[in-house]
Order: sequence, then C-alpha cells, then structure tokens
Amino acid sequence: MARFLMITATSGTNHDLAVMFSNAAQAKGHEAEIVDLAELDLPMFTLARSKDPEKTPDISGLIQKMMDSDSWVIIAPEYNGSYPPTLNNAIAWMSRDWQNFRSMCTGKPVGLATHSGGGGAHVIMAMRQQFSFIGADVIGRSCQSGRNKDANPDTIDAMIDGLAR
Ligand SMILES: Cc1cc2nc3c(=O)[nH]c(=O)nc-3n(C[C@H](O)[C@H](O)[C@H](O)COP(=O)(O)O)c2cc1C
Repeated sequence: MARFLMITATSGTNHDLAVMFSNAAQAKGHEAEIVDLAELDLPMFTLARSKDPEKTPDISGLIQKMMDSDSWVIIAPEYNGSYPPTLNNAIAWMSRDWQNFRSMCTGKPVGLATHSGGGGAHVIMAMRQQFSFIGADVIGRSCQSGRNKDANPDTIDAMIDGLAR
C-alpha cells in the first residue's frame, strides 16, 4: 500500500484528471489525496515578499502532505508551451527552505499528467525537466489528454503501478 498525493495546478479539467488518478489508486488499495494549487491561491513569489514574514504564506500544510506521501502525480494544463504559474509559484515558495526542499524531492517517485487544449507534449516536457532538476525520480510514462483525446485509463493504471514502490 502506498500513499499518493495528486497535485493539480488548476481546478477545472485537470482537477477532474486528478480525481481519476485518485480513484484509480484507491481502487488498487492505495491511499490518495488531492491538493489543488489554484485553490491554495498563494501570493506571487517575490524576493521582497519572501523576506517579509507578514507577507509570507503558510505552506506548512502543503509541505507536510508532500512529505507524508510516498509518490506524487503532478497534473497541470499546458500554458504557452509550459506549465501554469500556480505550479511555478508553489515550487518557488517551497524552495526558500532549499536544503529541506531538496531532501524532500530527492528520489521521490513522480508521475506527470495533463489535460490541455492541444496534445500537452510541451507541458509534460517542461515538468519533466523541472522535477528531474529538483531530484525527483520521474517515471517515463505520462498521461496526456486534451480537448480531442480522453485520458487513457490503462495509462493511469500503469502509472499508479509504476509509482507504488
Ligand atoms: C493562459 C493560457 C495559456 C494556454 N496555453 C496553452 C498552450 O500553450 N497549449 C495548449 O495546448 N493549451 C493551452 N491552453 C489551454 C489549456 O491548457 C486548457 O484549457 C486546459 O484544459 C485548462 O485546464 P483546466 O480546465 O484545468 O483549467 C492555455 C490556456 C490558458 C488559460
């Protein structure tokens, strides 16, 4: 039994995809929780804000959920050939505590998924680069869906199996 955290960057079709991943994990006897970064509504990271305790958001709950889980699935739509600001922003806030952030991410099994306007190949590439850079163990298989292509349930099942270590 593994504990999964599904991290969605947006609250629409990608949140729906996070629910599909969560249901698939639970059907296999795993624990699964969803975090919606858009719902967290973090202020935009700036160096000035990060140095002002009154303007620094409390992200301890997010970090605790990430630490407590064995594997993450990152689910995000393609925005201009990359990933949305909600994801980039959350990573920037978390990385303020660089040492702990690195150790939390190092070797973490990570799967990538998207529901985008088009094919979503660019957002998968961008997230693969990002999560590899921070030390995660990003699995090769990803789930791409969009306006003209539904998510493949067999891919979701295979990814859950590949991430349940
Ligand atoms: C600012 C913005 C930029 C976008 N850029 C792209 C893009 O480069 N490629 C693409 O396929 N879709 C693009 N889209 C479409 C979204 O990927 C698509 O609508 C996605 O399903 C939105 O996810 P959501 O329903 O979870 O909010 C863009 C949408 C927005 C709002």
